[in-house]
Amino acid sequence: MCAKSFLQAKCEGRKLSMVTCYDYTFARLLSQSAIDGILVGDSAAMVVHGHASTVSATVDLMRLHTEAVVRGAGDKFVIADMPFLSFRKGLAAALDAAQALMAAGAQAVKLEGVGGHEDVIQRMVESGIPVMGHLGLQPQSVHLYGGFRVQGRSCEAAREMVSQAKKLEALGAFAVVLECIPAALGREITETLRIPTIGIGAGAGCDGQILVLQDLLGMNLDFQPKFARPFWHGSRGVLEAVANFNEAVKAGTFPALEESY
Ligand code: KIV
Repeated sequence: MCAKSFLQAKCEGRKLSMVTCYDYTFARLLSQSAIDGILVGDSAAMVVHGHASTVSATVDLMRLHTEAVVRGAGDKFVIADMPFLSFRKGLAAALDAAQALMAAGAQAVKLEGVGGHEDVIQRMVESGIPVMGHLGLQPQSVHLYGGFRVQGRSCEAAREMVSQAKKLEALGAFAVVLECIPAALGREITETLRIPTIGIGAGAGCDGQILVLQDLLGMNLDFQPKFARPFWHGSRGVLEAVANFNEAVKAGTFPALEESY
């Protein structure tokens, strides 16, 4: 897969599947799967580092996670998230940030929003960096919203989002993530654009879907957004394994003879 094949998939009516990943171990596993792309999301700040939002992610943090994922991802298409403000401090700073992520091995970058950084998106595309947009709930703006809330519910907000999506396409983005918006709006944007939409809480009408890997694996005991269907009971599995280890150690049955030198 590559940015061009995302467009091709939409033309051929093939759905696209993506997951987030932040480390080498999971990237190796994903490299054996049929998913179409891996996003090194700035959600790493929350999922891996326990922060309350993605605002804490930095270029250095994203570079580190991108390098680890790329080492394990084999030939998977890896997209790196541009963290909070890294693309809002002027063109040169934005290009430096993108360069760091591409040098870490990403094959594309994703950035939130469009208004006020159109020049950045255009210059990156002209410089050979495939850009994925991100509209709807933009987690880096959580403090502006006052929480993680569904976006685009009003007619006016929906119209504005359609026009932002068109702008992203005109600027050369190869795809756009639509996060937490009404399903009807997700479908409308998808039908309006030539480039594929990748939904997360944006309904079944999108060209593809993305989930945070830990949500998909059911690793969260206390956080279960409506859209994040767990496809496994990971937390149960992990707790069972650790409990079994603990019991075996305490009972003196681990390590066994054949596990000793
Ligand atoms: O950082 C992230 O995980 C994301 C996805 C929610 C699309 O941006």
